[in-house]
Amino acid sequence: MSDKIVLTGIKPTGMPHLGNYVGALKPLIEQSKSHKTFMFIADLHALNTIHDASQIKQHTYEIAALLIALGLDLNNAVLFRQSDINEIYHLNTLLNNVTPKGLMNRAHSYKAAMDKNTAAGLDVDAGINMGLYTYPILMTADILLYNSDIVPVGADQKQHVEFARDIAGYFNKTYGDTFKMPEPVIGEETGLIPGLDGRKMSKSYDNIIPLFAPEKELKKKIMRIITDSKLPEDKKDPEESTIYQLYKHFATDDEIAQFAEMFRAGGMGYGTAKTILFEKINSVLAEPRAEYERLMANTDEIDAILADGAKRASLVAAETLARVKKAMLG
Ligand code: ADP
Ligand code: TRP
Repeated sequence: MSDKIVLTGIKPTGMPHLGNYVGALKPLIEQSKSHKTFMFIADLHALNTIHDASQIKQHTYEIAALLIALGLDLNNAVLFRQSDINEIYHLNTLLNNVTPKGLMNRAHSYKAAMDKNTAAGLDVDAGINMGLYTYPILMTADILLYNSDIVPVGADQKQHVEFARDIAGYFNKTYGDTFKMPEPVIGEETGLIPGLDGRKMSKSYDNIIPLFAPEKELKKKIMRIITDSKLPEDKKDPEESTIYQLYKHFATDDEIAQFAEMFRAGGMGYGTAKTILFEKINSVLAEPRAEYERLMANTDEIDAILADGAKRASLVAAETLARVKKAMLG
């Protein structure tokens, strides 16, 4: 068991896809077996884009059920809802006072929103709320509140973790050593999961396979994977096929070698290959999907797990907040 503390937040904005599962969720769940892990559903971070409480609540249940169903180790991992911890609002307010405004002006997501407005001929700040502008301060509060050492995030979030280090540094310089320096850990860009059209699977390309799609929908999506026009009898290069690239992430080494050979030998049409792929993914996901569906039908059970997580997270949060208040307010 490592003594490093891992922390990550997942925004409740809808069902993750197979790329998120292989690239982010699966490694996180693996890591939670050997590290003390804080994993929370970042519902406060969803507020700047989702203004419908029932949607946030529903998506929060979905992410929680999904993590539990995938086998998150609830002994090592503290799973909770960000908004349940009162200390987060306090720390956010306190950190406002050591965060330079110029740092926020440099945030990629804020700059992207301004660029979009300018390109559309709108006022630069049109539609931009303070939740978006101060998003990195709230994220810094998340990271520092739980004394995190390691923060696994996607590449798009790296700047936010660097901001957390900057803000922790300003704080420590002003008030003395109070916060640890968190390290961002970025998921490898290699081994990217392709989507239905062969490009990287991504919400922005509309080419995704949802992780817990019902069996019928999973099959339909897989049958829609775009292929070239080779005939069944033609020899095929597995490395060029999205079907094989997806299969690789779900099968054993022997199965992968066998499937590659079927591509190279010729005689297997793409329809057959897709059926083999569907059966493999379905067999891997059937059990967690059933557990996910059971939990979604019993949200009381999710509430109880999140309440327990909030209790455990609060202990650490209260201790950190007391330390920060003492440093700032005496
Ligand atoms: P999207 O591109 O669909 O918006 P996100 O940027 O929200 O996905 O990704 C969240 C996490 O999932 C990141 O850690 C990222 O590394 C991982 N991820 C996303 N898409 C893929 C993919 N196609 N293959 C592997 N990992 C991925
Ligand atoms: N901003 C992250 C995202 O959009 C989610 C998040 C919120 C987070 N707070 C965090 C991630 C703290 C890591 C650490 O994906």
